[in-house]
Amino acid sequence: MTYATYPSIVGRTVVVSGGASGLGEEFVRQFVAQGARVGFVDIDEERGRALAEELGASFTPCDVRSVPALQAAIDGFANDLGSVTVLVNNAAHDMRHTIEELDAAYWEDRQAVNLRHQFFAARSVAPMMAEQGGGSIINLGSISAHIDLPDLVGYITAKAGVEGLTRALARELGPQRIRVNCVIPGWVMTERQLREWVTPEATAHIEASQCLTEKLYPADVARMVLWLAADDSEHCTAQKWVVDGGWL
Ligand SMILES: NC(=O)c1ccc[n+]([C@@H]2O[C@H](COP(=O)([O-])OP(=O)(O)OC[C@H]3O[C@@H](n4cnc5c(N)ncnc54)[C@H](O)[C@@H]3O)[C@@H](O)[C@H]2O)c1
Repeated sequence: MTYATYPSIVGRTVVVSGGASGLGEEFVRQFVAQGARVGFVDIDEERGRALAEELGASFTPCDVRSVPALQAAIDGFANDLGSVTVLVNNAAHDMRHTIEELDAAYWEDRQAVNLRHQFFAARSVAPMMAEQGGGSIINLGSISAHIDLPDLVGYITAKAGVEGLTRALARELGPQRIRVNCVIPGWVMTERQLREWVTPEATAHIEASQCLTEKLYPADVARMVLWLAADDSEHCTAQKWVVDGGWL
């Protein structure tokens, strides 16, 4: 297979949350490979620092559940790398929980790690994007909001919220030429998924559910994210972009 390169991404300042591992790591790698200036945050300081050093990207350790810390990190990237014109709201945590375990504090925590930071990061970058004549915000949703998955009520509620957030922000920010889209990955074979959940039974389920039966990997989703960041998608906003191998 051969894939696209995007001249419009060269030199752009891109911020990725949760960029130290999983899909976020692949986004960081691919944006750097396309010539972008990349800043990323993650709670995993060790992996974040190692990746930043390997790629020459900028890393700030940050728990996205802290809105002030996230905003300070974004401002820091803008100061060091230039105004942010691409934001990838990727950080999330898909810990399983029963309904009984989901008390009020844990509910708030699930929304904070899976939804709230997406809004506050967008709010931070919107003025810089407007000043630059526009930008692209890409919110990571999840197939889990569309299929039958147990023990994930807090996460699934947040991920359904990401789709509403995307449409609402696209409407609000469209006049400033800021595009807001939601990428919905299917079941993607990250390190964490392979370690925690992808059993032989799960593999059989994937093969039975996807029209294209081969497993999905982070690079497959990253290519959609690149396209949404590039000028090639300039008239696309307020949409959901599903990369799931055709899960039926
Ligand atoms: N992998 C999949 O199959 C899949 C499917 C659907 C949706 N998604 C979505 O794609 C995105 C990436 O998922 P992934 O599979 O790569 O997840 P992952 O768990 O492998 O990686 C998430 C990253 O976010 C970081 N992170 C977690 N909590 C954080 C916090 N509080 N503050 C800062 N960073 C934090 C982690 O350290 C990690 O680097 C998420 O939004 C997820 O909901 C993934």
